[in-house]
Amino acid sequence: ETPQQHAAFEARILRGEKIEPGDWMPAEYRRQLIRMISQHAHSEVVGMLPEGEWITRAPTLRRKTILIAKVQDEAGHGQYLYHAAETLGISREEMLGALLSGKAKYSSIFNYPTMNWADVGMIGWLVDGAAIKNQTMLAGCSYGPYSRAMVRICSEETFHHKQGKEMIVAYAQGTPEQRAMAQDALDRWWWPALMMLGPHDADSPNSGALTKWGIKLKTNDEVRQEFINEHAPELLEAGLTIPDPDLHQDESGNWKHGPINWDEFWAVVNGQRGLNKERLGARQAAHEDGAWVREALDAYTARQLGQAAD
Ligand code: ACO
Repeated sequence: ETPQQHAAFEARILRGEKIEPGDWMPAEYRRQLIRMISQHAHSEVVGMLPEGEWITRAPTLRRKTILIAKVQDEAGHGQYLYHAAETLGISREEMLGALLSGKAKYSSIFNYPTMNWADVGMIGWLVDGAAIKNQTMLAGCSYGPYSRAMVRICSEETFHHKQGKEMIVAYAQGTPEQRAMAQDALDRWWWPALMMLGPHDADSPNSGALTKWGIKLKTNDEVRQEFINEHAPELLEAGLTIPDPDLHQDESGNWKHGPINWDEFWAVVNGQRGLNKERLGARQAAHEDGAWVREALDAYTARQLGQAAD
């Protein structure tokens, strides 16, 4: 890598050009993107587990069909993202191997358990709401395949967000049991949703390189602030109580949160707390159960090639 190549690359970023798979790029740009896109893909795939558990227990056929469609969308998002990462030279097998062996990270949020039916709505409203804030920003990122995947994913996430909000608002205005269920879900998901947007800027080692190269257009704290500014007033308007006694709106109109428990965040990320073992166990079992499909595909390909040779 020469200084001239770096300068030409950075000039392209400054001009707002998209970097495409065959283009020259610094090795560190490639490494950062593979890290981030593969973690993102794993999050989509693992993210199917907490909600998937509720498909058989959805209270009505309408809610069940919505949930099935949503979980299926997450599988599709995983597919686009694995494809986007493959354009950078890593194989699907390497990425899946890293996930199944526990080496790869995926979003902390999916290590939390879903304890009641309203959790499904709260995940749609808060977790997908936070994901949309982060991913609308990433839709403008400098790497073409990632930015294009984000455009489609964000449109689908917007439906997920709306169905979650609709569900929680309905329960918040429902029977005392439904209201209690919605409040219980908010009590457990509020802080994890704030944490999922990543550590504070001062503790975010990757932000410098990502911002310099136009991968992240906003910092973790900026995205978190946008998320709280949108969601805090809406949750309060729905009649729910946000579990943060320090939450208040400052003179500039921003909603300020109290201290975040980062020890909990790191314990959940590192698998010392939460359902990391269960989530990985479910993925490993699904991979083993799917071995016959991969074998059948290989046998089919071999037969097709054999016939082509005849
Ligand atoms: N869960 C698990 N690990 C996290 C999380 C989280 N919520 N947030 C940060 N981390 C990890 C980072 O991956 C990094 O670890 P690494 O260097 O070993 O990879 C470390 O904590 C330090 O954090 P940062 O330096 O701030 O990491 P980064 O600059 O990559 O910012 C962020 C984190 C905002 C999550 C970024 O990676 C991102 O935008 N990723 C794409 C979006 C995404 O993955 N969303 C997943 C959930 S959305 C959904 O699936 C519905």
